[in-house]
Amino acid sequence: MADDALIAVKPELAAGAKIDAARHRSMTEAARKDPEGFWREEAKRIDWMTPPTKIKNTSFTGDVSIRWFEDGVLNASVSCLDRHLAERGDQTAIIWEGDDPSVDAKVTYRDLHERVCRLSNAMRKLGVQKGDRVSLYLPMIVEAAVAMLACARIGAVHSVVFGGFSPDSLASRVQDCDSVLVITADEGRRGGRTVPLKANADEAMKSCPTVKHVIVVRNTGNAVAMQEGRDLWYHELCAAAEPTCPPEPMSAEDPLFILYTSGSTGKPKGVLHTTGGYMVWAGFTHEHVFDYRPGEIYWCTADVGWVTGHTYIVYGPLANGATTLMFEGVPNWPGIDRCWQVVDKHQVNIFYTAPTAIRSLMREGEAPVKKWSRKSLRVLGSVGEPINPEAWMWYYRVVGDERCPVVDTWWQTETGGILISPLPGAVDQKPGSATLPLPGVQPGLVDNDGTVLEGATEGNLVILDSWPGQMRTVFRDHDRFIQTYFSTFPGKYFSGDGARRDADGYYWITGRVDDVLNVSGHRMGTAEIESALVAHPKVAEAAVVGMPHEIKGQGIYAYVTLKTGEEPTDALKKELVTWVRKEIGPIASPDAIQWAPGLPKTRSGKIMRRILRKIAANETDSLGDISTLADPTVVQELIGNKVG
Ligand code: PRX
Repeated sequence: MADDALIAVKPELAAGAKIDAARHRSMTEAARKDPEGFWREEAKRIDWMTPPTKIKNTSFTGDVSIRWFEDGVLNASVSCLDRHLAERGDQTAIIWEGDDPSVDAKVTYRDLHERVCRLSNAMRKLGVQKGDRVSLYLPMIVEAAVAMLACARIGAVHSVVFGGFSPDSLASRVQDCDSVLVITADEGRRGGRTVPLKANADEAMKSCPTVKHVIVVRNTGNAVAMQEGRDLWYHELCAAAEPTCPPEPMSAEDPLFILYTSGSTGKPKGVLHTTGGYMVWAGFTHEHVFDYRPGEIYWCTADVGWVTGHTYIVYGPLANGATTLMFEGVPNWPGIDRCWQVVDKHQVNIFYTAPTAIRSLMREGEAPVKKWSRKSLRVLGSVGEPINPEAWMWYYRVVGDERCPVVDTWWQTETGGILISPLPGAVDQKPGSATLPLPGVQPGLVDNDGTVLEGATEGNLVILDSWPGQMRTVFRDHDRFIQTYFSTFPGKYFSGDGARRDADGYYWITGRVDDVLNVSGHRMGTAEIESALVAHPKVAEAAVVGMPHEIKGQGIYAYVTLKTGEEPTDALKKELVTWVRKEIGPIASPDAIQWAPGLPKTRSGKIMRRILRKIAANETDSLGDISTLADPTVVQELIGNKVG
């Protein structure tokens, strides 16, 4: 699609939106000229016990210190719950839609407040204190939001672990932050199948000595083992607890949550977000990017195990007093039209999903969409990976009937919330472009030497100054924080993404420039999958790269060298796939495994992934210079044995 394929803001949307093009320009200008003044005003969108007087105190150099609103005192759960009680206590806060289409539930702000208070009291009674870490390993049920907010209320730091992760992945995330408590469910439900969460947690707990208690939500009701003294039923604890609970006063810079995410090297990092800046960013971005208007029904299809679920199912919408829909199931079960059925059923106004979902629905044609009215839809959002113009146009044309703007939102676990996105009433869209930075965000493109590039160009995407929602550190590893984000281009935050900027200043994200994969919008480190593979007794060495995949965006392609004497059979390939699923989780399953008697290495022993990526992508006519390889013949051999 040409850069000039503009889809202009609809006048009727601009008229009703809080931010139109002129306001967008003036906000951007104000945030740039006077960030202190701008963010002092914006901070008022959340509730403070003590409003901040110090606004911004940040440095991207030296020790890298990021502090926003630092003398303010607040509690995130108050902004999400208590302050709404007077005005909209009886409004639905959460619409829960079950995996089974005949099951749903509505929870008002008043109900949610009480449920959060009860769990907060129960956790306090178990001895959980401010600053303690609590791991949540839950399906997409209301209790997941309750547990997050209850942790926030007592000042405990939650670490949500995606329910699709394996026992090993859960264990390493619990161990890294020494959680004292785990909250899980008997089982989860997804696409008609059950997920054995409690059994997985039991397996993980064998190597998690810091965990004193496991609270178990009765969800499917199927029998699970309960360990005397350690395991407690959620419903029993909450029934016995008081329905009100004083919130813990938190400094703006006290931690709110840790969320583990993959990088290009080593184990997943504990991304740490604090309270004040994150809440301001969550509320600010949710309101403006989706042009959220009071009374609207908002549905983000993410899982709470990812940052999108944190910021745009729980904290952002609830801070804005919205009605947020939480969906337990998957977009294509029991039928390929499930999303649109849910949209009509609950009269959803704003729908936010990932390009992977759009592409897989697109494959099934228009009929399953057209079967439903979708008249309630007003804004469509996309997140998690680059959206190709074809999928964008389908989303716009077929799902939104050319009535709804599409906001392609670029951001990361580290950024806390959206940084680059159109605003429905203010920014003309271009299919495939995340368009312009939000007010207060200063992106830049740099070449590999770190020189800032001007005008229409392509380069590494950096952010030049801090924004309130930025992560503060890697939990217990500030050096890794500096190393990962501020050392490649000193003085700038490096996103790990590449991007192009066109003549209108619009950003087009081209994808990761490091060894991080994005498979169906799920972020994964190649190093993690490699270490899972080499942990198998028959594997000597492994190299994992991404390959283009029509639906998933990227697929996982693994080159595996077996130990001497091991037979390279199809049965062993299957065994390795099962092995990786067990080690990490089903989302890390390799799409292709190629036996590699040798890997292309430099003379110093470094694997040349560039070459492996080209082979996996069938781009062998542009391999580039291979003369620096220790043994160039392995390349021909790998090309000859390419799978798929
Ligand atoms: O590569 C970018 C891609 O997802 C990465 C961040 O992944 P994660 O931390 O798991 O957060 C996902 C949800 C925000 C980014 O480095 N990404 C995210 N949104 C977009 C995107 N790539 C292109 N366009 C987007 N809108």
